[in-house]
Amino acid sequence: MRVLAIDQGTTNTKALLVDATGQVIARASAPMTTQYPHPGWAEQSASDIWASVQTVIAAIVRDHGTPDAIAIANQRETLVVWDAATSQPICPVPIWQCRRTAEACAALIEAGHDAQVVAATGLGINPLFPASKLAWVLDNVAEARGLLAQGRLRAGTVDAWLLWNLTGGAVFATDHSNASRTQLFDTRSLQFSDDLANLFGATTACLPQALPSDSRFGETATGATALPAGVPIHAMMGDSHAALYGHGVRAPGTVKATYGTGSSLMTLTPGRVGSANGLSGTIAWTDQHGTSHALEGNITVSAQAAAFMAGLLGRNGAADLSDLAQTVPDAGGVVFVPALAGLGAPHWDDHATGLITGLTHSTTPAHLARATLEAIAQQIADVFEAMERDIGHGLSGLRADGGASGNAFLMQIQADLLSKSVLRSDIEEVGALGVSAMAMAAMGEATEPMTDAATPFQPQIAPAARATWRKQWASAVSRARMG
Ligand code: G3P
Repeated sequence: MRVLAIDQGTTNTKALLVDATGQVIARASAPMTTQYPHPGWAEQSASDIWASVQTVIAAIVRDHGTPDAIAIANQRETLVVWDAATSQPICPVPIWQCRRTAEACAALIEAGHDAQVVAATGLGINPLFPASKLAWVLDNVAEARGLLAQGRLRAGTVDAWLLWNLTGGAVFATDHSNASRTQLFDTRSLQFSDDLANLFGATTACLPQALPSDSRFGETATGATALPAGVPIHAMMGDSHAALYGHGVRAPGTVKATYGTGSSLMTLTPGRVGSANGLSGTIAWTDQHGTSHALEGNITVSAQAAAFMAGLLGRNGAADLSDLAQTVPDAGGVVFVPALAGLGAPHWDDHATGLITGLTHSTTPAHLARATLEAIAQQIADVFEAMERDIGHGLSGLRADGGASGNAFLMQIQADLLSKSVLRSDIEEVGALGVSAMAMAAMGEATEPMTDAATPFQPQIAPAARATWRKQWASAVSRARMG
């Protein structure tokens, strides 16, 4: 059995052909572009998103024939709005990074609505989520309300848009993990909520049907892609959720961290957990075993901090910065807080700015480089410890994936700062593997756990040294904060 797993991400769309042993038979990739037309705005083209998926499918099918099923992992919280009659998008896609609704969200928080939204969705009101984005489209795109009145308007996350196109417009559905990130989905009832929609000035009338993540969502339509008609789409999940699944995490106790531009940490919880420590409650996935809940923390600037510091120091990218960092035994008392776009989880301060503390006459560029690598790991440790506080006990260790996790030096710092083992996946595309494993499970095929292809890192520093290191960081973070 072979599954074609698509990972539609912000910077590229990837496809993997995976067999039942979890081996990757083939890979294809197509780049994506993002436009930033105004400060704080971030947009992509829905047509480009779909075209990139057609491209990677064609590349795999050309050399390897027709797979048994398709699985989809995708960038989350990105809202596509289209006309059902033409399948044409009605506006550029506000992606998850887009903050055009910051004022509207601030007004809702000011009016005291946050607690109600957190209770229903697990998510604090924020422009990241599609709820306020949908209200914006209804109020600002000329044909939106007319199409809504005619029953032709469709609004969904990227999974729903891809499913619509793959099935030739026959199926309009999303999975529970993506739905849970819209801020319109009540994770108690597993339904989109009219109350939430009304609060944001949106509507549920144009939203998809929300189904378990391992559903047989539909079948490919003739002519939609290089695939013939009838290939089932057998699993869909948000990319972060798919990565957790891909790491083989099926029970509470382990945390996964994806080291990308930003970072997402996620851990399963025994049920719905409200966070008192700056994290989000979310649905990990729904499958044959029921609904799995999770806590998530999103760090706004993670590995991107290394690119930023490399630029400041005139170095040749993050790898060069990491080489420089390893020429000194420590950061010489320097701490860099990379609050370059505010601070995300668990601190949440939109107004915080980046900060470097501890400069002396003996500071060198190597100390700044080392402080940058440490900052990536310190932020991850902040979220990890917030998860432990929310859950009320220690968590066993960290599973790492994403581009920067390939840096063994960073992984060792991470193990030292957490005082826990870190297991780094040796396969980059953990999300695509995760969603393909879910599709296989749904079709009755067991796959191998991915832990076989992973490198462990063990903590090597004394507890007292670690405590001092963490304290120094916490003090710098408090100085970077404005709120
Ligand atoms: O929450 C947004 C996230 O899903 C985007 O992931 O991999 O496209 O940056 P990525």
